[in-house]
Amino acid sequence: MTTLDTLVAGHRPGWSLARGFYLGEGVAEAERARIWHRRWLFAAHGCELPEPGCFVTLDVAGEPVVVLRDRARGVRAFANVCRHRGSRVCTSSSGRAHRLVCPYHAWTYDLDGRLCSDTREHGVEPGSHGLRAHHAIELGGLVFVSLAEAPPPLEGMGEAFARWLAPQGLAGARIARSVDYRVAANWKVVFENNRECLHCPGSHPEYIRANYDIHVLDPRRAAEIEARVADEGRRWQAMGLEAPTLVSDMTAAWWRVNRTPLAPGFLTESLDGAPVAPVMGSYAQHDVGTLRATVFPNFWMHGSGDHAVTTRLLPDGTGHTLVRVAWLVDARAEEGRDFDPARLMPFWQRTSEQDWEICENVQRGIASAHYRPGPFERQRERNVAQFVDWYLGEMAGA
Ligand code: FES
Ligand SMILES: [Fe+2]
Repeated sequence: MTTLDTLVAGHRPGWSLARGFYLGEGVAEAERARIWHRRWLFAAHGCELPEPGCFVTLDVAGEPVVVLRDRARGVRAFANVCRHRGSRVCTSSSGRAHRLVCPYHAWTYDLDGRLCSDTREHGVEPGSHGLRAHHAIELGGLVFVSLAEAPPPLEGMGEAFARWLAPQGLAGARIARSVDYRVAANWKVVFENNRECLHCPGSHPEYIRANYDIHVLDPRRAAEIEARVADEGRRWQAMGLEAPTLVSDMTAAWWRVNRTPLAPGFLTESLDGAPVAPVMGSYAQHDVGTLRATVFPNFWMHGSGDHAVTTRLLPDGTGHTLVRVAWLVDARAEEGRDFDPARLMPFWQRTSEQDWEICENVQRGIASAHYRPGPFERQRERNVAQFVDWYLGEMAGA
C-alpha cells in the first residue's frame, strides 16, 4: 500500500482529512496527476483576451500554460514550452502578440500553436513541432482549461454556466481591480473554508449583514426567509432570471451555479448595500441578489447586479496557495465617474482576507504533530464533507 492508499483507507467519512493529505509531497504529486493536470480549471476571464493574439500565462502546479484568443476569436490553451529546447515562450503574465516568438532562439508559433519557423536545418518538419495543445473552453465569459489528454466530461456545466451567467455580462465586462495573494495554506484548506459558513458569524461581520447563509437553518427565520425567496423569485422571473435558491449545495459533484437573495436593504454586496457601479450585463436593475458559481478545485464567484468578484486558486507547493481575486464591472463603467475602487472592493477584500487569515491558522495547526481529524457538523459543514468526498473520489481515480 502506498502512503496515499493508507491515508484514503484510513479516512473516516464526515471527519476532516488526516494531516498527511495536507503536508505530504507524495499526496501533492498524486494531486498534480489526478486533479491539477486533469480537471477543468478556471484560468482567466474572457475579457482579459479581448482581441486575437491577447494572451495570459499561468503556472498550474508546475506546468507553464499560455491561454490566448485565436484569429477565429476562440480560446486556446497550450503548454508554454518551446519545442526547440524548452524555454517558456511567453514570459510575461499577459500581453498581445501577432505570433508567439520564443525569446531564446526565436522559434515562432502561430496563434493556433503551429510552428512557423524554418526548421529544415534542425532536420524536422515544422508541422511536427507545434506547441502542445491543452483543452480550453469559454463559458459565460469564463475561460476554463484542462491539461488532460481527454478531459473529464462537463456534466451539464457548459450549458448551465452559459445560461445562468449570460445576464451577468462577464464576456462584456472589464476587470476593475485584481489582487494576488500567496496564502500560507494548502489549497484544500482554502477550499474547505469556502464551503461552509459555520465560521461566518465570528469572522465575517460584513458578509453576514448582506447574506442569509448563517440563517438558512434557523427555524426562527424560516418563514421570513421563505417569503423573501418567494417574493424575489416572482420579481426575478418577471425579469427573465432563474428562480432563487438558498442552499449552497453543489449542483453536480464538482460545480454549482445558483442565485440567492440578499438581505433586505442590500442592493449589492457592498458595505452598506448601496450600489457601487452601474448595472452590469443585461440586468434591468441592481437588486438581483447574488449569482454564485463554484467549480472544484479552483474557482468561485459572487455576482451582484453591478459587479462580480471571482476567486482563482492555484497550488504553490503543499503549504501555499496562490489566490487571485478579481472585481469585474461593466465594460462601459469608468473609474472615477461610475465607480470608486474604495467602495467597490472592501466587501470582498475584507471577507477574503479574513478567510486567508483563518486558513493560515488552520495550516499551522495541521502542521502540528498533535493535529487529529475532527468531526464536521452534520448540516452546516455538510458541504465541506461533500468537498472531501469529491476529493477522495478523484484521488482514488473514481
Ligand atoms: S528554446 Fe525556443 S527557440 Fe530555442
Ligand atoms: Fe469565510
